[in-house]
Amino acid sequence: MKQPLLDIQHVEIGYQAKTVVHDITLQVSPGEILGIVGESGSGKSTFIKSIIGLLGRDGIVTNGSISYKGMDLLHQKEKQLRKLRGAEMGMIFQNTAASLCPVRTIEKQLYEMVLAHESVSHAKIKKRALDLFDKMNLKDGERILKSYPFELSGGMNQRVGIMMAMILKPNLLLADEPTSSLDVTIQAQVVREMMKMRDLFGTAIIIVTHNIGLVKFMADRIAVMYQGRLVEYGTKEEIFSNPQDPYTKKLIHSVLCINRG
Ligand SMILES: Nc1ncnc2c1ncn2[C@@H]1O[C@H](COP(=O)(O)OP(=O)(O)O)[C@@H](O)[C@H]1O
Ligand SMILES: [Mg+2]
Repeated sequence: MKQPLLDIQHVEIGYQAKTVVHDITLQVSPGEILGIVGESGSGKSTFIKSIIGLLGRDGIVTNGSISYKGMDLLHQKEKQLRKLRGAEMGMIFQNTAASLCPVRTIEKQLYEMVLAHESVSHAKIKKRALDLFDKMNLKDGERILKSYPFELSGGMNQRVGIMMAMILKPNLLLADEPTSSLDVTIQAQVVREMMKMRDLFGTAIIIVTHNIGLVKFMADRIAVMYQGRLVEYGTKEEIFSNPQDPYTKKLIHSVLCINRG
């Protein structure tokens, strides 16, 4: 079998003394889209942050292993992880605007981010950004780059987030509820753009969401989390045609109801 891009074995995560994620085992292959669903507080964000070492001071992986391309991520120095973040693993959060600096233009922040990983001219970075915007059917890239985050709509900021996450051509994109704060029509656009990135660049994606309709559309495999545990994991077809867990059955039933309405 081909080596998975990401191999997670029996991961357990706690904040101080409290364990909030229990015994997660899953793999992500190159170019695969994994959807992680589960209600609020089920440990989705905690899990995704553990992959890139962003749990913060209180959070710690207390058991198990996380390896990326065969490299053990849990025992890397912070300096090494910083190199991987962005270049190998891109991230998109729920609210890109909040993760950007409010008093500097998108363009300035983009240069700074790319230059932390590569020595390349501003002109080249700008061209790459405009090319990506073009692939996302955004024609006024120049104006967007010159803007401050607060001058752009929520949807536009998320699209900036996709561009910034993709500009270093990561092999893995981690997206934590990237569309939850958006209107339904804009949600669909952002989702289509992420899928296009996968198709163009072969980027594997882990998308965390509480929207099972969205994973039904996007994902190859699905992981369902409930109270910090992985209660279901399989291909989309397996999970939708034959859900095993009562919580998953309930989730799937709720989508069917919406589709019927
Ligand atoms: N920094 C933190 N310190 C202590 N507990 C936390 C912290 N972040 C999250 N938690 C707790 O961990 C559990 C999982 O939270 P989270 O990973 O944010 O879930 P989800 O993303 O699925 O909503 C929750 O009980 C939450 O209260
Ligand atoms: Mg969360």
